[in-house]
Amino acid sequence: MVNNFFEGKDFNKEEFKPLNPRYYPKVYQDYIKEETALVQQIVRGSKRILDVGVGTGRMIPLYAPLVKEYIGIDNSNYMVSQASKYKKDFSNIKILKENIEDLNKVFPKQHFDYSLILWNTLGNVNDEIIALQNLKEITKKSILITTFLRGHWDKRKEWYESVGIELDHVEAKTETVHSKSGLLSRAYVLEDFKRFAKETGLKIKQHKILLDVCIFVELAIGE
Ligand SMILES: C[S@@+](CC[C@H](N)C(=O)[O-])C[C@H]1O[C@@H](n2cnc3c(N)ncnc32)[C@H](O)[C@@H]1O
Repeated sequence: MVNNFFEGKDFNKEEFKPLNPRYYPKVYQDYIKEETALVQQIVRGSKRILDVGVGTGRMIPLYAPLVKEYIGIDNSNYMVSQASKYKKDFSNIKILKENIEDLNKVFPKQHFDYSLILWNTLGNVNDEIIALQNLKEITKKSILITTFLRGHWDKRKEWYESVGIELDHVEAKTETVHSKSGLLSRAYVLEDFKRFAKETGLKIKQHKILLDVCIFVELAIGE
């Protein structure tokens, strides 16, 4: 199926509700607050961070003021144009159209203190291992991840309804979602991250369940 979802197909020229917490059920609004506090605490004072899947640029005002340089990448033309609007307000940001699978050819080794791949962006990519291997090469300290937590489908279904995403089908066992416009969205448990860490040579530094709807994992590059 062609992925038109992140090109804004479901929303025409109207606001892209899935990336605006104003439209979320309360538990997801609270998850976003908790994620923000956790990530701010870690990245504050960094020289350079990478926001993978920058989306509409929602996170730019949250993290760009805390760091010297903030680079956001996305493989959607629509998202790159949305996030680029923040350039007029933040002189330390760059927004680039790139695919996560090519980042090791775009940036030098250990270019970023931290790479952020938040709000289930990892659950949208073709191959998590290739994605994490790329981030491992270009990151110095750690990769910060949040994804949907498997086992809480009722709440997640409510989120899709609130933001107006029309589902095509759901693979029940893995809770993998496919929308009519081509969105692929997976959900995870800690065991999945243990496997990813093993396969990529990354180390789980910390992890936390957020509001029973998402999971936060920090994968460290070195010891
Ligand atoms: C769930 S959204 C999260 C957006 C943003 N991080 C946030 O929290 O608001 C996932 C974003 O990742 C982008 N994306 C998906 N697959 C990608 C890939 N392979 N390479 C780069 N960006 C990708 C999508 O276009 C979308 O903007």
